[in-house]
Amino acid sequence: MIRKIVFPMLCGTAIWIAFSSNKQGDSAQQQIASLKDVFKKDFTIGTAMNTPQIEEKDPVTDKLIRQQFNVVTPENIMKAEVIHPQWNEYNFDLADKLVTYGKKNHIGINAHTLIWHSQLPVFARNIKNVDSFRTFFEEHINTVAKRYDGQVVSWDVVNEALNEDGTMRKSIFLNKLGDDFVTDAFRLAAKASPKSELYYNDYNNEQPAKRAGCIRLMKKIQDAGVRIDGVGIQGHWHVGKVPFKDIEESILQYAAMGLKVMFTELDIEVLPRNFQGADVNQRMREDPSMNPYVNGLPDSVQQQLASDYENLFKLFLKHRDKISRVTFWGVNDAQSWLNGWPVRGRTNYPLLFDRENKPKPAFFKVIEAGMNFKRN
Ligand code: XIL
Repeated sequence: MIRKIVFPMLCGTAIWIAFSSNKQGDSAQQQIASLKDVFKKDFTIGTAMNTPQIEEKDPVTDKLIRQQFNVVTPENIMKAEVIHPQWNEYNFDLADKLVTYGKKNHIGINAHTLIWHSQLPVFARNIKNVDSFRTFFEEHINTVAKRYDGQVVSWDVVNEALNEDGTMRKSIFLNKLGDDFVTDAFRLAAKASPKSELYYNDYNNEQPAKRAGCIRLMKKIQDAGVRIDGVGIQGHWHVGKVPFKDIEESILQYAAMGLKVMFTELDIEVLPRNFQGADVNQRMREDPSMNPYVNGLPDSVQQQLASDYENLFKLFLKHRDKISRVTFWGVNDAQSWLNGWPVRGRTNYPLLFDRENKPKPAFFKVIEAGMNFKRN
């Protein structure tokens, strides 16, 4: 039996949702509006996929991914520690599987990430000799980028090379290879993967000082005559504190460099935090006061989250000519890395779908913004 329910929208739009009752009498969600369809004329809509999702272990999540998203980013399996665990050993199984999954489902892949100081294999972290480190750097890019050339839409070539003040992060790559390692990485990636796009990706690079550093870094690549196609703003923000002005200014400034602008790891967290950003090595102590919503999200926070997402997508739509992709960092709240970072074992609510894969108020606000937007 199919029942149709209308969710009343404040400004008069109605979004139909069909529920079907199964034999046991409980209702399973069958069809809701689709993000990728609603924003088809604007930008692609992506999600991060974790290993069980790539292995298609959960049919409900799998169906939701195919229904809602037209591009995906592997959350972990293309990072160096997974794909290149030893000097002479690469592990391409899951990345190959993802490529096949993408082809089968007409879903593009943004490959994440070639050069990043985190989630490096132990052997690479232990390389002392500069020449050996450069060999690792070059071989890693050549091998991985070449294998998936044209199979993936794009590469996050370098991830998080900057400090908050816009200077270069003192990473193992900077220490061993010097200031030019980012340009070198793009040069190598351009040669190994001529058919895929090349991006620089970072968090907080909408903040003025870091943005200025990001622009300097990307200008340097352009001035060297090396290809860079776009810039990713990760977009790990906090409810009630989304920096809309900085985001808009960044869209304008990055686009003025001739680059595609993307929001690559969007989530809006609702739990307490004493620092800004997304440095995976930064942690906070466990304490029950840091985990206040174990039994559910209070309505006031749910509404604030919905309104933040709504305003964000209105801003994205305003600049739809400059933005090429918006990717969420996960499909549903259960999957989100923010349940485990920067404090372990929390119950977080940063995405558009809840722990049962049901759409949250924020989802409907985003869909409504997309449906009501006047496109010429
Ligand atoms: C995170 C993953 O979501 C976690 O599963 C993993 O344990 C750590 O990394 N910036 C990035 C992403 O570029 O790769 C990070 O992903 C989140 C911050």
